[in-house]
Amino acid sequence: MIRSHTCGELRSQHLGQEVTLCGWVAKRRDHGGLVFADLRDRYGLTQIVFDPALAGGGQAHELAGRIRGEFVLWCRGKVRHRPEGMTNPKMTTGEIEVACTDLVLLSEAKTPPFAIDEDIEVAETLRLKYRYLDLRRPSLQRNLMIRHKMLSVVRNELDANAFVEVETPILYKSTPEGARDFIVPSRLNPGTFYALPQSPQTLKQLLMVSGMDRYYQIARCFRDEDLRADRQPEFSQIDIEVSFMDEESFFPVLEKMIARVWKEVLGQDVSTPFSRMPYVEAMARFGSDKPDVRFGLELQDVSEIFKTSTFQVFQNALKPDSRGHAGSIRSIVVPGMAEKFSRKDLDDLQAQGATFGAKGLLWMKVQLNGEIQSPAAKFFSEGEKTALKTTLKLQAGDLVLCIADPKNKVVFDALGALRLAVGARLGMIPKVGEGKPAFLWVMNFPLLEFDEKEGRYFALHHPFTSPRPEFFDDFIAGKNLDRIQASAYDLVLNGVEIGGGSLRIYRSDVQAAMFQHLGLSHDEAHEKFGFFLEALQYGTPPHGGIAFGIDRLAAILCNVGPIRDVMAFPKTQRGHCLMSESPSHVTSDQLVELGITLVRPKE
Ligand code: AMO
Ligand code: AMP
Repeated sequence: MIRSHTCGELRSQHLGQEVTLCGWVAKRRDHGGLVFADLRDRYGLTQIVFDPALAGGGQAHELAGRIRGEFVLWCRGKVRHRPEGMTNPKMTTGEIEVACTDLVLLSEAKTPPFAIDEDIEVAETLRLKYRYLDLRRPSLQRNLMIRHKMLSVVRNELDANAFVEVETPILYKSTPEGARDFIVPSRLNPGTFYALPQSPQTLKQLLMVSGMDRYYQIARCFRDEDLRADRQPEFSQIDIEVSFMDEESFFPVLEKMIARVWKEVLGQDVSTPFSRMPYVEAMARFGSDKPDVRFGLELQDVSEIFKTSTFQVFQNALKPDSRGHAGSIRSIVVPGMAEKFSRKDLDDLQAQGATFGAKGLLWMKVQLNGEIQSPAAKFFSEGEKTALKTTLKLQAGDLVLCIADPKNKVVFDALGALRLAVGARLGMIPKVGEGKPAFLWVMNFPLLEFDEKEGRYFALHHPFTSPRPEFFDDFIAGKNLDRIQASAYDLVLNGVEIGGGSLRIYRSDVQAAMFQHLGLSHDEAHEKFGFFLEALQYGTPPHGGIAFGIDRLAAILCNVGPIRDVMAFPKTQRGHCLMSESPSHVTSDQLVELGITLVRPKE
């Protein structure tokens, strides 16, 4: 037997036993006569002592002189109590040490580019280049184990509920998730390309046509989009599809799965059913379709107050466009904070709002005498000021932040982001790991979104998402398209979108209407999704599904920010794997074989 115990296992109950341990040298100290080494493996750390005075310990002690950090050792020796005053309550094995009588240096190690130590700040680029060393850190090992545990609970729960795990191809065809595809050239069919799936969307629906009834997969998805802390080009989903269920029967299955994950991974009870909120309400109150409902600072619509305003900015916002849609003026009240925000703070907030297209940020401060101080105060009538004070229940010392725009999307995005920024600055948002998890279903998303530039509708989710049944007639007739709601839902946790899905269209008349509204001709639709539309004509059950972002869920369970920290081999924001240096060039022979010539990228 190569080892009798792991490095996290030995306690005082093992005193006097002869044991063998293997591991990496985390730390080595030479105390003149005695040499100490902390031996590390996935399970913990154990202190090994090399004592020349021990019977048979001389040779081991001599060899121990050659030990350096990260060497891999095999040690045999007796478990003994640490001397009085030398026990370490911070280590689970802190009461004992192993007095080594046989030592083998299994493997030597170069000096690592950074110390494998939690407490040392190391540039992330260096960590990612030597990811295998970074992964020796206990915190990253713990993250990977939590992720593993989460997936094993998910598998057990879904298995117990008659779900079947089915693998679907990676070399496939473009799927309709709205990001750019990664494409792979086919050598056997020069000039043609596979697309890596952005999700198994069409495939899981086809499995429902096949009669699979309940499908799941721990699925790899590929999306070529701008990366952020919570977005990687390659990520994983718990992908689920079911037949003959509606939201009322489906949600409890999902909630039970999530609650079981929280219970078995964190030991926390999560109360079900989860709260629900219509999309329209989420936008109106929080300016976001993934609201963090754990704190206030809610948005308030003040358009009505300013409908006859002489302020140009407000007038512009409320003027209907060619399609008859007007924007709005909305605000958030930050109670008692007028003096806490300097001009510079407000300028910074304005700059932040500008990244969402807001053309300005109007602030108002309620002074002690009740007067409203604001760069635009001269444009406000007495009536407007009074209405503002009553509607917003303003008190002396309050700060009001206000955004007006002809596009409601700009108002919501900018004010929603400012709400989060102000909440964070004032410490109103519980830190990761604090407080109860706030799960929320956001429901009844709009089905279609009008794109001004292209002058046509787009599916907000994807073109197989079903309208809510009460809108079927309007939808088929092409009436009130802006107001049609989808049977689409997202699961939001603490302001993070952790999952999204929908019930699908299974009626061919509804699907035909969808393509018509999206401006796709019969031929275009068939060119894009022909095989899929064909399949739906051979007996399609009502079906629907969801996909949870595994990386985002794991990041929350592990209490970490960026999802990189729960991925073994993540990529940088520029999509690089610093360790393998991919993406990289290929040989000209490879290109010739694939029939590909490179053109210089446009500057
Ligand atoms: P959607 O596109 O909403 O739905 O994706 C589902 C969930 O996947 C996670 N996610 C990501 N995680 C990390 N990096 C990314 N780039 C990334 N993109 C998405 C999010 C998101 O909620 N096929 C549909 C599901 C369905 O309709 O059943 C889909 O993929 O947590
Ligand atoms: P101006 O008259 O352009 O100097 O603007 C007066 C105030 O209105 C400034 O504080 C601007 O930041 C603010 N402002 C300008 N555009 C907007 C807008 N779209 N929404 C809210 N405030 C704005």
